[in-house]
Formats: sequence, structure tokens, C-alpha cells
Amino acid sequence: MTGTAPTAGTTLNDPVTIGGLRLHNRLYRAPLLECAGNGPDAVDALIADLEPAAASGAGLIHQGATIVRGEGGCAAPGMTRVHDPAFVADLSRLTDAIHAHDSRIAIQLEHGGLRSMEVWHAGYRRANSDLEQLAVSRPPRILRLLDRLGFLDLSPRILSTADVEALAADFGRAAARAVDAGYDAVHVAGANMGIVQQFCSPFYNRRTDRFGIDPDVGAGVAFLELVAEEVRDRAGDVPLMTKVPSERPTLPGIGPHLGDDEAVRTCERLAEHGYDAVVPVRTSVFWDMSVVRGEFPAAAWRDPRFRDGYRDAFGSLPRAAAVAVGNWIESFAYDFEPGWNRDLCRRVRERVDVPVCCEGGLRERAEMDDALGVDADLVGMGRPFYAEPALPARLLGHDVDPGVKAVCENCNNCAVAQAAGEAGVCRTPAVLERAGRLRKHGAYVPSPTDSIEGGAGGGDEVEAADGDEGRAADGDEGRAADGDEGGSAGGDGMSL
Ligand SMILES: Cc1cc2nc3c(=O)[nH]c(=O)nc-3n(C[C@H](O)[C@H](O)[C@H](O)COP(=O)(O)O)c2cc1C
Ligand code: SF4
Repeated sequence: MTGTAPTAGTTLNDPVTIGGLRLHNRLYRAPLLECAGNGPDAVDALIADLEPAAASGAGLIHQGATIVRGEGGCAAPGMTRVHDPAFVADLSRLTDAIHAHDSRIAIQLEHGGLRSMEVWHAGYRRANSDLEQLAVSRPPRILRLLDRLGFLDLSPRILSTADVEALAADFGRAAARAVDAGYDAVHVAGANMGIVQQFCSPFYNRRTDRFGIDPDVGAGVAFLELVAEEVRDRAGDVPLMTKVPSERPTLPGIGPHLGDDEAVRTCERLAEHGYDAVVPVRTSVFWDMSVVRGEFPAAAWRDPRFRDGYRDAFGSLPRAAAVAVGNWIESFAYDFEPGWNRDLCRRVRERVDVPVCCEGGLRERAEMDDALGVDADLVGMGRPFYAEPALPARLLGHDVDPGVKAVCENCNNCAVAQAAGEAGVCRTPAVLERAGRLRKHGAYVPSPTDSIEGGAGGGDEVEAADGDEGRAADGDEGRAADGDEGGSAGGDGMSL
């Protein structure tokens, strides 16, 4: 690998190619849980969530993590499984809807391992007591302590070498079903503390077989390499990508971690081994706010509508309160920082010659253009799409104000409510009101010029998407999302 030379003047509007897949611009929706499940309405729910991003111009949409097996492995309530051929075939309605706007869609494949609900979710554990907990190695000491304190319930089965190979094959089979259903790319969920990260990280991985930590890399890359081979064997030459974690150092005595140097070497290795793009992200060894830096979500913790859900998830209200206190403490460590992965992405980009995708705290058009061509080849956002499902219409185009930015305030009320089984939507009324005002001012309708130049869907499709901003939060937030008639569209982040 020789690295990618900086390309001055690259902007969000410029096309880019990932593994032969041409994208009409460099803006993507990062994977975010849609909480659509597998019920009879699942595909329609996914279309409602994802089509607005395509209709408003995003070059690439990542569906939130989907589980490769029919049992276990869900990191959060409501995740969609992709083990059933009939269900996945029906997802062609989603891929068709995205393609109708000349956008492209990647499926993200996941298994939670020790992050699965059968480990942490009290109610789910009770209802599914026969489920196996899959572990890369014996769980780290700190997790065993949380088990003794009653926050987790560990009874892991450590994967044999043959089990690891079977799991990699399931990633390959899921990829093949997804490609048949029209997905344009496969994204292995590598850095959301699920089983792939558990293989990568020396915090979790103490294996002595070939899936252990590679001393040349400082990370356990063999599982990701085998997944690539399985995907190639079963799904063909589909563009393949993964997030790559760089973990925050742990406190002394807690355990080793995978840092920036190891993440850069992991990306180099994966690019050599057939991955067509990488997404380096700063994370942690725990299931915390490191990937969603921002504020302590006080409103979501206090919301009485979610109380039963928290009790079910954490076993009792006092225990839920203890988790909330932990969340409050960690919010000081993970304060919001604009574009917090940019420097890591730049280091990776200097070493690999596949596209590097950057996400995490990017909000403003000017900072995206600034990052492109130097730190990254594509830029994405997560939470802002909950608040503004058709956000690309405001950011894309050749004549947009460089100061235009997403209205999301990084309060994380959307994130924590998902532990209580609530849908993935923005839950902050003031933010939804601002989005509503922007919608009333036509901010989510791409200009005809951008449709012609950038290939974003124009005319009728755009009008249809504008009318449907995805699923609204229940109750007050949902009404607020429809906007405040009297508001003006001026001020910070409100440029049209
Ligand atoms: C509620 C929620 C769910 C998420 N789900 C996923 C996921 O399924 N897979 C994944 O790789 N990242 C997931 N992420 C992380 C996002 O892809 C993204 O990296 C993160 O939100 C930082 O970007 P942002 O600051 O633009 O939100 C999730 C984030 C949030 C807030
Ligand atoms: S609740 Fe809304 S404003 Fe808060 S982080 Fe989520 S999307 Fe952004």
C-alpha cells in the first residue's frame, strides 16, 4: 500500500468509486439502528427511514446493523435479522426504492457477541434463557465483576476454531442473500463493540489459535480476513468495507486496548486483503458513548414513558438509575468534538490506497469539504439523519452556504431510549421544531440544478420524499416534528 495523495479542492459534490461502485457524491448516511425488526411491516419501516436520504441526494446509505443469524447476537432491541432468505428477498423493495433515486445502499452485517442482549438485557435474558452467549475468549475481568454485581449475566461459550469458521461463513451467506436482494455493498460491523471488534481487540481476544492477536498488527485481523474470503466466495465481487476501531486507553489494570497505531495497521492489512474501503472510528472497549460523543441524555433517562422499558432492560429501576449515573460520568469523558475521527482517518489515508470514510461529529458543509481529499474520501453522519431524514438536500449542491449545518444537537436522547426498546428517531422537541421550520421553507427539496448535476432524484420523487420525513417519535416530539408555523429559518445551522 502506498497511501492516497491529498487531492486539493475535492468537495462533497464530487463522485467517488468504492470497489468499482460509482457514487454520485461523497456524502453517506452512517449506519444507525432503524429498530425495524423482522415483522410484517419491517421492510416498509426501513423504506420510510432510508428512502428520504436517497431522495434528497445522499450518494450512499448504510442500513443499520443487521444480524447474520436467526437466534441471539442482537446488541439492541428491534434489530433486523438477515438469516431468512424469504425476508431478505423482500428487502429488494428497499433497494429498489433507493436505486430509484440513483443512490446506493450497503447492508451492515453484525453479531453482538458479548454485547448481545442475552448478556446485558435482563428481560430478554429471562425470556431467552436457552440462548448461547458467544465469546471470543474468557470475558475480561471487568465484565466478570459486572456479572457478580448483577449488571450482566455471563455464561459464555468460547468459540472453537470451527465455530469461528462457521460464524464467518454465516457473514458470507448473509452477504450473498443481500447481494441477491439488490444491495450494492457489504459493510461488516467492525467497531460498535460487537463480536468483530471483540476479535480485533486485545481487551477481549486472548485466543491462541489463528484467530488470536496478530503480533505484526497488534489486532486480531484473521476473523475479518476470513469474513472477506467468505463474502468473496459466496457473494462475488461486491464492494466490501468495514469500520475499524481505535479504542480509548483503559485505566491501569483494566486491560490492553487497540490504539491508533494498531488501527492504522489493521486498515493497511484489510486493504491488502480485499476490503474496498475502511471507516476508522474512535471507540472504547466498553458499550459506552465513545462512538456517539455528546451530552448526557437527561431527558430520555427521565422520560416516564420509557420507565418500564428501562426496568425490563436493566432488571430494576435502581439498577437503571445506576446505569444512568454511569452514563452521566462517562459523558464528561466523551464530550462532543467536531469531526473527532478526522486525524485518525488522515493517518489511515496516508497508508492505504482504498477510500477512507470519515464519520463522527461532522456537521457543517465547510468542515466536510475541508476533510475531503485530505483526511477522507467520503464523509458521513449518523444522528443528524434521525433529526433530518432528508438532510442531504441542505448540504449538497454547488451554491450552498458553506456554513450550513445539521440541526442535531448531539444530546443523545435518541440513543439511550433504544435500550428501552424505543424507535430510532430524534427525541428533542426544539431540534424537531427547527427541522419542521426548515421543511416548511422547502429546505429539504434538492434544487433542480443539483438533481441534474449530482443525479439526485428530481421532480416527483423529491416531492414524495419531502412529504415523508421518516418515522416520527411518539407523543410530543412527533407533533413538534411537524413544525412551528411561526418560526423563521434564520440563525445558526438554519441556512436553507
Ligand atoms: C442510536 C444509534 C445507533 C447506531 N447504530 C449503529 C450501527 O448499527 N452500526 C454502526 O456501525 N454504527 C452505529 N452507530 C454509530 C453511527 O454510525 C456513527 O458512527 C455515530 O453516530 C457517530 O456519528 P454522528 O456524530 O454523525 O452521529 C449508531 C449510533 C447511534 C446514535
Ligand atoms: S435526539 Fe435528536 S438532537 Fe439529540 S442526538 Fe438524537 S437526533 Fe440529535
